[in-house]
Amino acid sequence: MARILIIGSGGREHALAWSLAGEARHEIYCAPGNPGTARLGTNVSLDNGDHQALIEFARSERIDLTIVGPEAPLAAGIVDDFQGSNQKIFGPGRAAAQLEASKLFARQFMHEYRIPQPAYMPCSNREEVWAAVEQLGLPVVLKADGLAAGKGVIVCHSESEVEAALARFFDDRSFGDAGRSLSVEECLVGTEMSVFALCDGKNFNIIGTAQDYKRAYDGDQGPNTGGMGSIAPSRLASADLLEEISATIIQPTLDGMRQRGSPYVGVLYAGLMIIDNEPFVIEFNVRMGDPETQVVLPLLGSPLYDLIDAALEGHVPVDNRVKQGAAISVVLAAKGYPGQYKKGLPITGLGNLDDDVILFHAGTREENGQLLSSGGRVLNVVATGDNLNDAARQVYENCARIDFPGGFHRKDIGG
Ligand code: AMP
Ligand code: GLY
Repeated sequence: MARILIIGSGGREHALAWSLAGEARHEIYCAPGNPGTARLGTNVSLDNGDHQALIEFARSERIDLTIVGPEAPLAAGIVDDFQGSNQKIFGPGRAAAQLEASKLFARQFMHEYRIPQPAYMPCSNREEVWAAVEQLGLPVVLKADGLAAGKGVIVCHSESEVEAALARFFDDRSFGDAGRSLSVEECLVGTEMSVFALCDGKNFNIIGTAQDYKRAYDGDQGPNTGGMGSIAPSRLASADLLEEISATIIQPTLDGMRQRGSPYVGVLYAGLMIIDNEPFVIEFNVRMGDPETQVVLPLLGSPLYDLIDAALEGHVPVDNRVKQGAAISVVLAAKGYPGQYKKGLPITGLGNLDDDVILFHAGTREENGQLLSSGGRVLNVVATGDNLNDAARQVYENCARIDFPGGFHRKDIGG
């Protein structure tokens, strides 16, 4: 039994709480959490940016372990701050979190350690971007250097699309300071795959693979989002490919970060493009994915607490055989997401779900016993099964029982 504090408030954090609550009589706290995590433990209304208040809470409540869900507190150095106060916390420190917080740092790092990636050029004004487009050719990817909640990437197929993207970066400043500089990249065409490696600074273990559905609408149409659904495992996850990914991407990354004096402890999320069975890094994230966590955790082979403990003790690899079968998550989002959307939209019908379907809250709040939306991505409906078809059938049967008139979801996850 441990006293655990989870930092964050989305579907990923609800899934972390669900996983931990299911494996032992852990005492779970979530800051700030959501109505879903409130059912599994205690929500604590503390701001993720207020590290001192969180450390005080951890100390006064004798928290054994803090787990960080989102990237922003990691990039802001929450792990360094907790460790400086002798509080046990899981995630990379500020320096290692640069792998996600600066796309240009990550690209430069991968270049240095010969980790396979698309051709790219760092740019900070229009002239540089046009020169890069000239060099790399169309289509081309413009990516904000800093954190942009998964939305700072624009794929351009024509010069007019480049011009429109440049207006967003440099005139509208849609990405704020995160978009002051950018990585202009060769557009890779292949199949995407997300790989989650549990790392102890030196060694690692792949605890799951997944496919994220990033576009807003069916058929991979519409704008990029934080993720509209996911399946696990990835259809591409053969033993051979995972071995290749381990040897050419994960291990060199751990070796490189260690050489630089910032060993990587935490979950390393490699977002990959697979082309003719060869992996290339689209991006690194320094945390679990959302909504991938929601499908990876139900298939985990060992208790999550033990895995995290092993990583913190420097004892990875561990014996972790991912379960057979498949998991699928469908995100119910507010109409308009990832653009403008309303909040406070009512949701009913949650009592009609099958017992073995898991409902994770993402952007919800409760008012007088009524569930309302409070964000763009609102709920995640998750089903598991012996195979993906069974899981997909069940998840969509259950989505249809939820009444959320102000919402929408993709109908083709897992298809
Ligand atoms: P990211 O936030 O870096 O994962 O980018 C979001 C999405 O944009 C990715 O999941 C890809 O679909 C796409 N993308 C980003 N970079 C590239 C690239 N260099 N080539 C092709 N697609 C990309
Ligand atoms: N679903 C993508 C991410 O978590 O970054």
